[in-house]
Amino acid sequence: MAYENIRLESEGAVAVLTIDRPKALNALNTKTLQELEAALKSIGPDVRVLIVTGGGEKAFVAGADIAEMASLPEAQAQEFGALGHRVLAMLEALPIPTIAAVNGFALGGGCELALACDFIYASEKAKLGLPEVSLGVIPGFGGTQRLTRLVGRARAKELIFTGEPVDAAKAKDLGLVLEVLPADGLLSHCKLVAGKIIKKGPLAIAQAKRVIQEGADLPLPAANELERKAFGALFGSEDQREGMKAFMEKRSANFTGK
Ligand code: CAA
Repeated sequence: MAYENIRLESEGAVAVLTIDRPKALNALNTKTLQELEAALKSIGPDVRVLIVTGGGEKAFVAGADIAEMASLPEAQAQEFGALGHRVLAMLEALPIPTIAAVNGFALGGGCELALACDFIYASEKAKLGLPEVSLGVIPGFGGTQRLTRLVGRARAKELIFTGEPVDAAKAKDLGLVLEVLPADGLLSHCKLVAGKIIKKGPLAIAQAKRVIQEGADLPLPAANELERKAFGALFGSEDQREGMKAFMEKRSANFTGK
């Protein structure tokens, strides 16, 4: 499918989703969010890892589109926020690992987009933050909640109350970013990690992702119960038999996702 503001390209089992609207530093307007929604819906079982990045030299995504939001009446602002939440929830719920390759500014809705991915790698020139209070609003695509869960309340409050972006090294210190890479090595690093993941059992990866995410909001006994059930259920899969047989036969497993 042809999109105007994004690109979805597959290289084997790894897909790269690029927000590509460099004239506005890839800002998320309604059209871009709708295209993202359509692209996420179109991802089929052949895709085993999704990398999300930004087009152009400067930005991952510089936020929700301020020009579009500036004159929104309250009711439409509610709808715009709901669209952003829906798209990011869809990204977060994909049954495959998602990696944000933050190649420049990841501000406001852009930082929130990265936070909806499973983890973030950043280039040395990346700047991440939630500057919404500078505009008289608050993060509107899940930033107050996902950032807090990732870095803790006080760190999240400092970033959100000051509105000041942090550089990649500081973002790594905070635990927001896993690794900082040279700009020209960022995507290849993400692809290297994706290449390791796609060799593993896809059902196991999907279940691991689900129980980590669902368990995070539950008390420990209930969360462990999720893990117990998912662990047992995987023994009904061909992948479990193949994975363990391959180990005993001292060969690589050939997983089929069944
Ligand atoms: N929305 C719309 N347009 C944007 C944009 C955004 N979030 N960010 C940048 N642009 C546009 C600029 O208006 C400019 O357009 P023109 O060339 O037509 O003037 C173009 O992109 C290039 O930007 P700059 O000239 O500003 O580039 P710079 O290098 O001087 O500065 C920047 C880069 C620091 C990222 C700066 O553009 C900036 O501060 N952008 C806004 C960041 C921001 O506040 N993001 C949060 C938005 S609110 C939000 O996201 C709400 C939510 O949670 C849902």
